Amino acid sequence: MDKSTLDSLFSPENFRATGHALIDVLAEYLANNLCGQGAVLDWKAPAEAAQRWRRALPKQAQLAPDQLLHTIRQDILGASLHIHHPRNLGHQVAPPLPMAALCDLVAALTNQAMAVYETGPSATLLEQQVIRWLGELVGWQNTEGVLTSGGAQANLTALLAARQVKSGGNVWRHGVREGSRILACEHTHYSVSRAAGIMGLGTDAVIKVAADDAGRMDFDALRAAWTCCEQEDNRPFAVVATAGCTPTGSMDPLRKIGEFCRAHELWLHVDGAHGASALLSDTLRPQLDGIALADSVVWDGHKLLYMPATVSAVLFRDPRHSYAAFAQEASYLFQGNNDSEEVWNTSYRTLECTKRMMGLKLWAAFNLYGTRQLGALVEHVFASAKRLADKLAAVPDFELLMPPQTNIVCFRPRAVDPVIVRRKLVESGAFHLTQVRLREQNWLRTTIMNPYTADKDFDALIVTINSLNKP
Ligand SMILES: Cc1ncc(COP(=O)(O)O)c(C=O)c1O
Repeated sequence: MDKSTLDSLFSPENFRATGHALIDVLAEYLANNLCGQGAVLDWKAPAEAAQRWRRALPKQAQLAPDQLLHTIRQDILGASLHIHHPRNLGHQVAPPLPMAALCDLVAALTNQAMAVYETGPSATLLEQQVIRWLGELVGWQNTEGVLTSGGAQANLTALLAARQVKSGGNVWRHGVREGSRILACEHTHYSVSRAAGIMGLGTDAVIKVAADDAGRMDFDALRAAWTCCEQEDNRPFAVVATAGCTPTGSMDPLRKIGEFCRAHELWLHVDGAHGASALLSDTLRPQLDGIALADSVVWDGHKLLYMPATVSAVLFRDPRHSYAAFAQEASYLFQGNNDSEEVWNTSYRTLECTKRMMGLKLWAAFNLYGTRQLGALVEHVFASAKRLADKLAAVPDFELLMPPQTNIVCFRPRAVDPVIVRRKLVESGAFHLTQVRLREQNWLRTTIMNPYTADKDFDALIVTINSLNKP
């Protein structure tokens, strides 16, 4: 390649100029979304939308940087789910803090591989700092763990460690000898069963414990399930409790479950992917009473910590357990062969080899806003969810599944099928929301992630659904 082409590929000046223009595009997009301009989603059926993306592989350059920006604005941002729009009430994905998004750009350009300390010194230390802070909020000191790409991988990592520690042998080295079980609530996220499948336990190894009417793991049912396993001489090694379960946002009774696990030498894993952020608020923290009894906790940054996806933390109460999930030798990476050096090498703790610098955005948010402002965001959306629930409960045409414990509200109109309502709302671009099937019934499910979602949006939702009722 000739030098001038090379220089144009890596040009700092082009980066600066296009970067400034890109930030202008994104800032305008953000401003428009926050004030609810336009539709939440410009819905097009995927088969139709896909036509735009079936072009020939370019052999020559096709776009100048300004055309790239135009495409980003028109075709990428235009056809995105507008996550900062106040009427986006769908999934548990955060409208990210813009400053955290900027930090992700630093991660992208610097590409710290992070497998071992020397491939990302600052990234490694930032990550360890953030893990200690999150552990402190759980109620632990000097916590160790790892940041992963998402809660699903985080749950797998925690359960691998649980099995290795509780097996009494070396499952990592010798493989799975006999089926061992995990007790989890019927509402546990599917990634737990998936982890059991990946671990060679089989998804049937996850014994589903019934939930009570408030969507929480029923403690008596947990005890009965454990007794049943004991009678079959097939001991569970772990209990998975959820802080903020996916369908309803309910919080399992962590203290009772934790004490039970201690008494029976079971590993307690708390999947706090959604709800652990309540720990940021003095008012909400009591909902997670007992979380410190856990052996491992998962906490998603891209949910109620308002981070860009993805960043999830796996935290271990006993720092040594942070090495239990993966215990592999690879001499081209790990050369220290002694603990005081290897603690700095992230690869020992994670499935990923090359791993994105995920700690910076969290570190920056804690420094820029403190736990006070981050906690206030969580309090704000939890309070919004309560107001939506109160409004729905006051309208005779609607049925509320249960008062929300967090920021997820499930309800349905009495006269129309929720599945049809959802499809119409999403395809019209008026609102984005999800649906859930619980005990043979369909429900509309809203997650209030956006602090800009206001009462007028809730009122409009009720009016719009009611209008779908009319012939
Ligand atoms: C309770 C819970 N655990 C785990 C996950 C998986 O997290 P991720 O989507 O970050 O992989 C989710 C996702 O919604 C969740 O709600």
